[in-house]
Amino acid sequence: MEKLRLGVLGSGKGSNFQAILAAIQEGRLEAEIAVVIADQEGAGILQRAEEAGIPTVTLNEPRYQTRLSPEVEDQLVSGLREAKVDLVVLAGYMRMIKTPLLEAFPGRIINIHPSLLPKFSGLEGWKQALEAGEKTAGCTVHYVDAGMDTGAVIAQAEVEVRSDDTAESLHARIQVAEHTLYPAVLAALISHPADPRQALKLPTSGLPLPTSL
Ligand code: GRF
Repeated sequence: MEKLRLGVLGSGKGSNFQAILAAIQEGRLEAEIAVVIADQEGAGILQRAEEAGIPTVTLNEPRYQTRLSPEVEDQLVSGLREAKVDLVVLAGYMRMIKTPLLEAFPGRIINIHPSLLPKFSGLEGWKQALEAGEKTAGCTVHYVDAGMDTGAVIAQAEVEVRSDDTAESLHARIQVAEHTLYPAVLAALISHPADPRQALKLPTSGLPLPTSL
């Protein structure tokens, strides 16, 4: 069977990309990272991809901060198609996803978010959890739709909030959880494409998932 081809999108340092790559290299994930695409020149994720010999694309979007203009999103879609990507993996990608990408990869875009969605969507979910006095924070892998962090949840990992936590210390522990959760969800998607929650031994009685892998 051909390996699932991942297109990883990021804006930042790329620690989730690195965790996914490590899972592939260590044989825990039967997939291939076909391309890494970033919207920030010089982003750490690009450097990490280059060091690993993975093709990269850098998008140039001077007009908007929180989304891509349709022409640039078309370039993004072209980059993913040229790399023959099966699944789009958002790993610290800081812009909203719009129609060109959603229509090009229906049910094939996933994201990791640093909170237990639906709580604390948007920016700095860990900080929002800390400020709200939560005892438990965490991270969520979910499908991407046109909303902000609103797509169907695949899996979550909980992280205890300690009484002496700062935003930084809590975020660091959530990232450790992310680095386990994201590769595990990808492996589950490959083994149980219709419902990865089965492979993760999670309840499946909730909403149906939109996957079409
Ligand atoms: C992660 O905390 C992820 O939850 C959020 O952005 C951060 C990306 O970190 N979406 P990295 O670039 O993977 O290190």
